Amino acid sequence: MEIDMACFQSGVIAEANTDALFITLNVAPTTDAIVNLRQVLSGIPATELSFRQRYPEADFHITAAIGSEFWDRMSPDQRPAELVPFPALNNQLLVAPHTPVDLLLHIRSERHDLNYEAAVLVLSRLADSVMLDQEVHGFRYLDSRDLTGFVDGTENPQGAHRAEVALVGDEDLVFNGGSYIHLQRYEHDLEAWNRITVKQQEDIIGRTKADNKEYAGADKALSSHTKRTSLKDTEGRSVEILRHSMPYGNLTHKGLMFASYGRSPQPFTQMLESMLLGDGSGNHDHLLHYSQAVTGQAFFAPSIEWLESLL
Ligand code: HEM
Repeated sequence: MEIDMACFQSGVIAEANTDALFITLNVAPTTDAIVNLRQVLSGIPATELSFRQRYPEADFHITAAIGSEFWDRMSPDQRPAELVPFPALNNQLLVAPHTPVDLLLHIRSERHDLNYEAAVLVLSRLADSVMLDQEVHGFRYLDSRDLTGFVDGTENPQGAHRAEVALVGDEDLVFNGGSYIHLQRYEHDLEAWNRITVKQQEDIIGRTKADNKEYAGADKALSSHTKRTSLKDTEGRSVEILRHSMPYGNLTHKGLMFASYGRSPQPFTQMLESMLLGDGSGNHDHLLHYSQAVTGQAFFAPSIEWLESLL
């Protein structure tokens, strides 16, 4: 794949970290806000570099991404070829809502204090150009498990393949090195989940719980999560996304901040449709009986060069 390896935001393909802040923001309806925003966004790669140089052990990343609905205010003349609104779905029983916001800052590293410091710094620069929508603190839980107790991320693309799955290539020359992001905050009903047996939970995921073994294909229910999300295209190739999801929680709300990064929005959309709308024979994803998406947003994370050109 022809990608200038220096130009993408490092967080798009970096390995998982122990700590993340997912910050969503809306931009004030003024020209001054856009002027300030362009300046702040253009400085984000330098801010990331400075944190990475000061704390090399922390594996620090800031990914800045612009919301689908807001994009044209930010950049009326150039738009990523496939940037479309979040694909809201509703099959009467299950709902994936669309709750648009203007900006995403996905800050992650091995240190919550640094993530916090970077968030405070960037928000102070943005000042009254933005209003905070949500701030979600994601953390690694045990050996990279979701709060349902299952290891999450096992089948993510590995090594150089991560770039092929997550980064736009020469199919869109202006936005080469960018990435389409979908973000959904899921709230789990852990009381209901913990009332069913471990075997029932494993059948829903399609993997074993303690030792994270994949079920044999023939043993996977059509309504299992991994069956509904491992899709093939018409030529038999795997449909893939790069997931950077993290558990979040306090004593009241618990769940998964689901984050998909892709070279195109289509793989995510196909998977979400497969989960909610099912296979045409009534087999939707039974994991969704225990977890509800309460937000849904589509963003584009442009390349570093594109961000720097905003100044
Ligand atoms: C696999 C959890 C939502 C796409 C998995 C696995 C777990 C999991 C435990 C198995 C281990 C792994 O390979 O990572 C969850 C939870 C979700 C959620 C708790 C929200 C409540 C989603 C959504 C999508 C998705 C919304 C895409 C639209 C995938 C994919 C796999 C996967 C592609 C790998 C399937 C395979 O090839 O075996 N998920 N997931 N997940 N999930 Fe999710």
